Amino acid sequence: MRDTFNRTIDYLRISVTDRCDLRCKYCMPEGGVTPLTHGAILSYEEMIRLAECFARLGIRRIKITGGEPMVRLHVMDFIEQLKQVRGIEQVTLTTNGTHLEEYISQLAKLQIDGINISLDTLNPVLYKEITGRDVFDKVFSGLKEALKYSNIKLKINCVPQGIPGQNIVKVAELAKNNPIHVRFIEMMPIGLGKNFTFTSENDVMRELEQAYGTLVPFNETLGNGPCHYYSVAGFQGKIGFISAMSHKFCSSCNRLRLTADGKLKTCLQYDVGMDLKEMLRTGKSDNELIAAILQVLESKPGEHHFAEEFVVGKEMKSMFQIGG
Ligand code: GTP
Ligand code: 5AD
Ligand code: SF4
Repeated sequence: MRDTFNRTIDYLRISVTDRCDLRCKYCMPEGGVTPLTHGAILSYEEMIRLAECFARLGIRRIKITGGEPMVRLHVMDFIEQLKQVRGIEQVTLTTNGTHLEEYISQLAKLQIDGINISLDTLNPVLYKEITGRDVFDKVFSGLKEALKYSNIKLKINCVPQGIPGQNIVKVAELAKNNPIHVRFIEMMPIGLGKNFTFTSENDVMRELEQAYGTLVPFNETLGNGPCHYYSVAGFQGKIGFISAMSHKFCSSCNRLRLTADGKLKTCLQYDVGMDLKEMLRTGKSDNELIAAILQVLESKPGEHHFAEEFVVGKEMKSMFQIGG
């Protein structure tokens, strides 16, 4: 599939739920969200049917996101079915890690192609402050357990927030001592992220270079996302940056997003999304779904404009509603 800017679209992010067991300050309000009802979210059968349509159109890689995907019941069965969809070559998962310890052996058995774990700090007290939950030990045990499976590619996602004590140098050290890539994500003004100023890639880089020496650009791709990587002498894993603010990567965008309630979004920032759930539930055929997806693709914007004000036709939901 190609969009109107001649970008190849072969990557789909599917959010299986908007629920999450954490309350990261930049993502989910502590008390205030009413989750989608069971009837409002796509069933796994509906998602598989859509995945089959997307595969016919050339989607080859699927990322499962949330909210937190592992809080949805029977998500392992869904992953198993997704892995079997003809044309889908890779299924990866992005998780906050709270349920990793209990699910990792099943994920390994299902031959999950990669897991990204969100971990903003290794300081348990600060972790609780950022995520609203006292579960650092649980997440870290999950990570350690996951490291036992050498066939699963692991990455850490860390959003630097400029808080004393976050100690991003220590987070980066995970890539020194383990075969794991550590990525630093610039805070995006999406949902509650608007209340924060972002720490730039350059600032993180400076801090890391003081601790570990030169970061050398690594030009191979290590995933399907917008991350670019650096090698560090003596490190087993790479250091990556996802810098939507300071290093816009829209020109190489390769993805579409399916939200838990069945909206097809062409960009993290823009558009409210085409309602595929409505189409599924009013008996539309696969060919009609495929035609609708192609029509949506026509409207995929060339780039985001995070710096601009909200205008009609754009929406700024939080990550838990879009799926990151
Ligand atoms: P892999 O490297 O293949 O695992 O993919 P990924 O980096 O896309 O995966 P992940 O789900 O871990 O996403 C990491 C961060 O990148 C999240 O904060 C996402 O919101 C962000 N991200 C992913 N795609 C886009 C995009 O198209 N635009 C922007 N601005 N951010 C994105
Ligand atoms: N800006 C950047 N990253 C964000 N994430 C959630 N909200 C934001 C935001 N506003 C990150 C999470 C997780 C990943 C999937 O997205 O920390 O690591
Ligand atoms: Fe949950 Fe991820 Fe949002 Fe944190 S950033 S509240 S883990 S969806």
